[in-house]
Amino acid sequence: MSPLAVLNASQLVTLSGPKRPRVGTELSALGIIPHGGMLIREGKIERVGPSDEIEKNVGDAEVVDARGRVVMPGFVDAHTHLVFAGNRLDDFERRARGETYEQISKAGGGIWSTVETTRAASETDLLAQAKKHANWFLRCGTTTIEAKSGYGLTADAELKILHVLRQLNISAQGRDAIRDSRIASGRLGRQDELGCKMLPEIVPTFLGAHAVPRELSPDEYVDIVIAEMLPRAAAEKLAEFCDVFCERGYFNIDQSRRILSAAKKLGLSLRGHVDQLTNSGGAMLMAEMGATTADHLEQTNEQGIAALKKANVQPVLVPGSVYGLGSGRYPRAREMIEAGLAIVLATDFNPGSSPTPSMPMILSLACTHMKMSPAEAITASTVNAAYSLNRGDSIGSLESGKVANFLIFDYEDYRELAYWFGMPQTHSVYVRGECVPRSGGL
Ligand code: NIG
Ligand code: FE
Repeated sequence: MSPLAVLNASQLVTLSGPKRPRVGTELSALGIIPHGGMLIREGKIERVGPSDEIEKNVGDAEVVDARGRVVMPGFVDAHTHLVFAGNRLDDFERRARGETYEQISKAGGGIWSTVETTRAASETDLLAQAKKHANWFLRCGTTTIEAKSGYGLTADAELKILHVLRQLNISAQGRDAIRDSRIASGRLGRQDELGCKMLPEIVPTFLGAHAVPRELSPDEYVDIVIAEMLPRAAAEKLAEFCDVFCERGYFNIDQSRRILSAAKKLGLSLRGHVDQLTNSGGAMLMAEMGATTADHLEQTNEQGIAALKKANVQPVLVPGSVYGLGSGRYPRAREMIEAGLAIVLATDFNPGSSPTPSMPMILSLACTHMKMSPAEAITASTVNAAYSLNRGDSIGSLESGKVANFLIFDYEDYRELAYWFGMPQTHSVYVRGECVPRSGGL
């Protein structure tokens, strides 16, 4: 790959700073280089600085002239349910008529209906749908996606989903290898299309405990998750994290604790869907377990917030699902920030509660409904999200040595990103130093 020089950004939003998740006022420090630029080699950032300095070192690099636009790191989406079959249009219509998420679930819709379609789908069909959705994420500027299983609920079906996630990463690497060999043999310029899709990196999470299958009691199912599913997922190294849906009608505190303890023993890091619909003490449990993240937290109180702080757990807030369910009960982001938590924002992309792949939409919701500033929202969806996926040393900011995942927006001021809404936002998206084609490749 030939080197790349990005010049003339109105603001190069680097997010440079301490090598750890940002808290308090650090969330507002974006490390902006006005009239900035950067040099990229072999898909990695070599240096960042004022554009005129970078220009002096351009050498044989191909130049990308940002022409006074904002340049920032690719979004890191730390909570998605990427792999499922079908959709939930019927649930959507029923909610529009006034039924709640819980009522629809009891009446045969909800997670269970997606489990039925996902169980029936082949790995090939699931992969095709997941690729289509992964490309939506790329178009919206997300270059790394955490993705959970959870719509299988049998050992084989959960493993099928995790295999699809592995396949997505293999496809991305395979594409890179084809491209590199074509460039080496002079058959491809760096911006030429390969005829196969670019993909974001996927970080896999096992969420076998997403719902209790109809055919089993909760405790019977928990036994299967612990005795069969987790060991298989760990043996095949199919997941980096384990998650549970700790909620009334799903898994209680004791069942969640059993699953998370077993996962920890197998070397997985922990995340959890907690305090989403009711405050069941889920945040306290995640603190007790030493989890990496506690996600949702719409109903979490001061006690839960204090416990997360003490145990150094990162909150992952997902306002898309609050909006999608029309509930209006957004999590207490300001209190969490004031308590010193290293807050993360994510889409919670899923067919039921949050059918959006768009981080800019989430930034808009965070600013309008959770009273976060645009700068706080950007930090929460880039560098803090990267740390929550154990990737803070390689992605999430534009600093020398990091992967060249970056976005160009047709804006002069980074705050525009959270201000305009309801329209396509990215001007261009770069993954590992390569531009995602605007059409054809997507
Ligand atoms: O994060 N809360 C549990 N899981 C998803 C919803 C999944 C679904 O409805 O299919 C969530 O909101
Ligand atoms: Fe979720």
